[in-house]
Amino acid sequence: MGGLIDELEKKIKDKKAKIGIIGMGYVGIPLGLEFAGTGFSVTGFDKDSARVKEINSGKQVMKHIPAKSMKEFVKKNNGSSTTEFSEIRDMDCLIICVPTPLDEHEQPDMSYIESASKEIGKNLRKGQLIVLESTTYPGTTREIVKPILEKSKLEAGEDFFLAYSPEREDPGNKEFSVSAIPKVMGGLTDNCLRLTSNLYKNIVSETVEVSSLETAEATKLMENIFRAVNIAMVNELKLILSRMGINIWEVIDAAKTKPFGFMPFYPGPGMGGHCIPIDPFYLSWKAKEYNTEAKFIELAGEINRKMTEHIAHRIGRALNDDKKSIRGSKILIVGVAYKKDIDDMRESPALRIMDLLKHKGAKITYHDPNVKNVGPLKSLDLTQNTINEQDAIVITTDHTNIDYKSLGKHAKLIVDTRNIMATVKNPKARVIRA
Ligand SMILES: NC(=O)c1ccc[n+]([C@@H]2O[C@H](COP(=O)([O-])OP(=O)(O)OC[C@H]3O[C@@H](n4cnc5c(N)ncnc54)[C@H](O)[C@@H]3O)[C@@H](O)[C@H]2O)c1
Repeated sequence: MGGLIDELEKKIKDKKAKIGIIGMGYVGIPLGLEFAGTGFSVTGFDKDSARVKEINSGKQVMKHIPAKSMKEFVKKNNGSSTTEFSEIRDMDCLIICVPTPLDEHEQPDMSYIESASKEIGKNLRKGQLIVLESTTYPGTTREIVKPILEKSKLEAGEDFFLAYSPEREDPGNKEFSVSAIPKVMGGLTDNCLRLTSNLYKNIVSETVEVSSLETAEATKLMENIFRAVNIAMVNELKLILSRMGINIWEVIDAAKTKPFGFMPFYPGPGMGGHCIPIDPFYLSWKAKEYNTEAKFIELAGEINRKMTEHIAHRIGRALNDDKKSIRGSKILIVGVAYKKDIDDMRESPALRIMDLLKHKGAKITYHDPNVKNVGPLKSLDLTQNTINEQDAIVITTDHTNIDYKSLGKHAKLIVDTRNIMATVKNPKARVIRA
């Protein structure tokens, strides 16, 4: 086995190791770009042939990854993508970045990890390193990935190497690129961990090596549960404080001057994205196997889900003050991506609010500089007329390149879930913080 490790270690050191990324999405693409950028040859594997075609033609696939970077990835001739999984055999290191959603019963859907592992298993050869990056419950790498790979008759830790290293990518966050974020990792064996650390040291400034696969898996979940619970807490506090006539954003600004023991979280219209609303339930599901309950996780989910209903209710009250009802009112939603300055609508609370209002009979339109279509709806330009003819404008996402001054000047009523209108001096519109 020493030979296999030394061989792969040398290939990694010389940047001769071929990297295969399974799943070229929000996580896989930036990771592939990062490895290719440091001189490695990278092959993206994806089941979606349209996605593969787009990447290979150097197209911009995601708003926060510039077309220039995508072109460079292909042009340098060290980054290509394929649907041909037999090429896995030519790879030295394989990194799995496939989705981990919840199924219709709100339980972990492991089908993507299973199918990616099967593809690797069919093409596995001695001396390869397999790293799972998808967010998942503790035990996945050992209990799901390892047995599937070992169907090849090769033994994990002996014939091939296995590790888990969660992705901490924050799409759209310019302050922290992939390389600036320390990378947590756990290996099946010490050698698996050593190889994984050597690999990632090429693209990150710091690796954090933990004692087991499960510790690394739990670390990622803890980070996201921490966010989900704190967002729920601040959302609940917003409801309580607003009844008391207290502005929660002012409270947070004051509280965050405390130099220790406090970290600001901000309220909003609910929780969105592919991670925070979903990942915590991977742990609460697994907790049941150990006869324990994850009460914080369940409660946070419940509070965050209810926020959309609260916002819809608040819009109804605000219209009522103008002697109008939701039914028949023209309501324009500003920002449908789940957070600022990205184009990702997955689990976006704005979509749920649009649905709720539509069901109540509102005439719904939207504006989002980053999202051209939502189903049959097209993003409307925020002209003076468009703004003016709305009965209400609801700000659900506070993208940077929106003219809030113009909204404040021409709108009748603005329901602001992000407190962004606080940046506009003396708006003519009636602004309701919700
Ligand atoms: N998006 C984020 O910001 C983020 C951050 C941290 C962690 N994660 C985690 O990373 C993982 C991937 O998330 P994502 O946002 O990149 O997903 P994504 O949906 O953007 O991309 C996943 C890609 O995998 C492909 N795919 C699905 N099954 C496949 C298979 N069997 N073989 C090959 N390709 C397959 C899909 O076609 C898609 O292109 C998830 O576990 C997620 O929770 C995501």
